[in-house]
Amino acid sequence: MEYNNPFFFGGVVEEEDFCDREEELNSLEKDALSGMNVLLYAPRRFGKTSLLLALLKRLKGKGVRGVYIDLFPVSSEEEFLNLYFGAVVSSLEGSVERAIRTIKETLSFKPSFSVNVDSEGRTSFRLEFSRAQKDKTFEEVIDLPFRYAEESDKRVCVVLDEFQEIYRLGLEAKLRSMVQKHSRRVSYLFSGSRKSILERMFSDRREPFYRSVKKVSLNPIEERNWIPFIGERFERTGKSIPVELIEEGVKLLEGHPQGVQEFFHFLWEETDKVVDRGSFLKAMDKLLEAEKDTFWFMWEELTNIQRKVLKLIAYTDGVEVYRRENLERFSLNANSVQKAVRSLIEKDVIERKGKKLVFQNPIVKLWLRRELNLSAFP
Ligand SMILES: Nc1ncnc2c1ncn2[C@@H]1O[C@H](COP(=O)(O)OP(=O)(O)OP(=O)(O)O)[C@@H](O)[C@H]1O
Ligand SMILES: [Mg+2]
Repeated sequence: MEYNNPFFFGGVVEEEDFCDREEELNSLEKDALSGMNVLLYAPRRFGKTSLLLALLKRLKGKGVRGVYIDLFPVSSEEEFLNLYFGAVVSSLEGSVERAIRTIKETLSFKPSFSVNVDSEGRTSFRLEFSRAQKDKTFEEVIDLPFRYAEESDKRVCVVLDEFQEIYRLGLEAKLRSMVQKHSRRVSYLFSGSRKSILERMFSDRREPFYRSVKKVSLNPIEERNWIPFIGERFERTGKSIPVELIEEGVKLLEGHPQGVQEFFHFLWEETDKVVDRGSFLKAMDKLLEAEKDTFWFMWEELTNIQRKVLKLIAYTDGVEVYRRENLERFSLNANSVQKAVRSLIEKDVIERKGKKLVFQNPIVKLWLRRELNLSAFP
């Protein structure tokens, strides 16, 4: 019997491909139901989008209208406005026609817009307004979920994924009303992967979003949840894996959702019947090879000192980086290390976890340890 690879990576996962996140879902659900605004932060490929969509699905079961907007492709204020408007209109009611009717009947805002359906049946909207009406239109469109909720007596949860893009577009002041109009009926969930930018937006007192949300940082998926998830996938496809090797793989990838799925995807491919050390090592090679481009793009952007500091962190596992022997080994001095660490945090390559410096992407650490001829585990 031929089976398909049961491990998936590179896009949203749902239903049976979705592992755990029970606690996160429960707590985010409570926040949404009580109208809290939340900032959900996690590094890239941590499963933010999958979690957010799973949350909206759950909330739907509780009668909450969900609006999901991915800001990543947006490159202008107009694009943002049209995308936002379109997402709101398509999500609040069962059909676009009904939503338009509701908007026109209940709201003071009578937007004029055109609707476009592409060859794949996707609907997009284009708001029409004069230059003079621009700011007013912007405000009213942003307020749509709030007004809709008030008028219709329904709860709404608006998810803005990749929210850091708002900063690049310089729209944060214009979006202030999202968090200013406190309504228990509407909750906003801001999510993103650029910690340094999000921190500035939400923790700097000069910024419009200062202290306006509950901050939640998404953790990796725990080993105890990965073990049955992974084991069961091998079993059900006629293969098997010793539990120690599951544990070792999950530890190497630090529970990183995409990293783990990708590694076990290759491991499954490399395995005929039973996973052994040989297939394990081959899968690791494949993973590093597959992620080479990601690594390369990051590496290329760095100065020589920053590169050395990353090696130093990989070598020391992020502890005692300032110890003399460690600095000497990489011909670095404490001052320049301090400066490089700051930039590497700013670039979201590493972050501080307590006293430790850690890589946001565990694969980068595995790469560097290999380059340094060190074993994968410190
Ligand atoms: N709950 C989960 N269970 C199993 N695998 C997951 C889970 N969440 C994420 N993954 C893995 O991580 C990959 C990326 O997930 P997703 O796109 O949701 O993350 P993201 O944080 O939104 O990524 P990006 O930073 O690219 O936006 C998925 O393709 C899947 O392999
Ligand atoms: Mg995402």
